[in-house]
Amino acid sequence: MATYKIGYFVGSLASGSINRILSKALIRLTPPELEFTEIPIGTLPLYNSDFDSDFPAAGRDLKQAIEASDGILFVSPEYNRSIPGALKNAIDWGSRPWGTNSFARKPTGIIGASPGGIGTAVMQSSMRGVLSFLDAPQLNAPEGYIRFDAEAYGPDGEVKNAETEAFLKHYIDEFAAFVTRVLAANAPGHIGDSDPASAK
Ligand code: FNR
Repeated sequence: MATYKIGYFVGSLASGSINRILSKALIRLTPPELEFTEIPIGTLPLYNSDFDSDFPAAGRDLKQAIEASDGILFVSPEYNRSIPGALKNAIDWGSRPWGTNSFARKPTGIIGASPGGIGTAVMQSSMRGVLSFLDAPQLNAPEGYIRFDAEAYGPDGEVKNAETEAFLKHYIDEFAAFVTRVLAANAPGHIGDSDPASAK
């Protein structure tokens, strides 16, 4: 059985983050093909292009973690109907210096939880524009707009509600299938495989 390395971003730095709980729930339910490693974002400086001529270790480590991953999962809250600044900052780091976009051709998934009914849908819509620009293929369906019910989860991501569990299992199974498909398409021998730099 092939296994794939999935780097995941949690878009919240809050100690009691519901999105961190959601990430734990997804990892609990994941098929054995996927191995998850968090890509931390909390200590990154704010990106600016002055760093491009002498990229700091924090930025290099982030890019290396993305590039070492077969696929990327974003689990994030919605802030003011958009992407939380800490997550957007991390994505900006990963996208630069120009010509070294670490997200190019990486299969990605976006999911998020909110106490509110929109369930991070507007943040996810913003993310899709960003990831499109970065040439990162995205899981289109199922969409994961999670209205977080605190009673449905334990602190370590145990899912106590059968319907929620079935949905999250379906989501992560479909993400695994999507990663597999994109990696097959990216493999040598396919059209466009000869010039990965053109994707950056
Ligand atoms: C929020 N929250 C929020 N919720 C939402 O559904 N849509 C939104 O646009 C916003 N905007 C927003 C902005 C800021 C600055 C904060 C701090 C919060 C509420 C948010 O969903 C809630 O605090 C979640 O618990 C945040 O996720 P974590 O940090 O618990 O994972």
